[in-house]
Amino acid sequence: MRIAIAPTQAEGTAIAARVLMERFEQGKALGVATGSTPLGLYDKLREAHAAGEFTLAGSSAYALDEYIGIDADHPQRYRNVLAAELVGEDKTGLKDDDLHTPDGLADSPAQAAADYEQAIAPGVDLQILGIGSDGHIGFNEPGGSLASRTHIGVLTEQTRTDNARFFDNDIDKVPTHCLTQGLATIMSAKKILLLAFGEKKAEAMKQVIEGAVSAFWPGTILQHHPDVTIVLDEAAAAQLQLADYYKTIWESWNK
Ligand code: GLP
Repeated sequence: MRIAIAPTQAEGTAIAARVLMERFEQGKALGVATGSTPLGLYDKLREAHAAGEFTLAGSSAYALDEYIGIDADHPQRYRNVLAAELVGEDKTGLKDDDLHTPDGLADSPAQAAADYEQAIAPGVDLQILGIGSDGHIGFNEPGGSLASRTHIGVLTEQTRTDNARFFDNDIDKVPTHCLTQGLATIMSAKKILLLAFGEKKAEAMKQVIEGAVSAFWPGTILQHHPDVTIVLDEAAAAQLQLADYYKTIWESWNK
């Protein structure tokens, strides 16, 4: 794992943007995450697009997950969130038809999961990830299979509490079920770029980087991936035993 520890979230976001623009092969599939963590990164991609330095025109984008049963026009429907961030000439150049999200409104969510797995099969070049405070990636909650493919997931109380801030701070408004890429689906991406900021992520990042691989901390599966870059701020790195060592390695690679 390549681990960057930045003094602040803003500096971490700038590092993540640089890594993405250097390493994503334009024209290929970009795996896109929701949550608040990657929003600054999407700002940077829009800025770079406006400056003519980057484009998602001709590329496709695949979401990690989607709520089941959320209204088609709900602002927190992940398709709508990602479209608002990325789609259009005034954003990153991504075309709406090239944004793929699991169909949370399908009559058969199980079929929608199978269809999504098939759609993503050609492969994601670079997958952007955030992480839940309980260690989930996508919506792969603790206790799920480390070998899962796109499936129906049940959100934990912790995740629904964390996400209530997007739903008028009312946990009852947060959907209970989702469609999510499985851990094996995420692991099929060629490159992974994980961002984690703030002290709420510190325990999860301790587990992901220094813990044992375990379904209890789903993000730990990334230890088996050959090409992972993790960008943290100091708060998210606070529990790492070897933080100074990771900083030395990062500096030696980026001289
Ligand atoms: C949601 C998403 C995850 C995301 C997580 C963290 O649960 N399904 O993909 O990583 O939130 O969110 P935040 O970045 O807002 O902390």
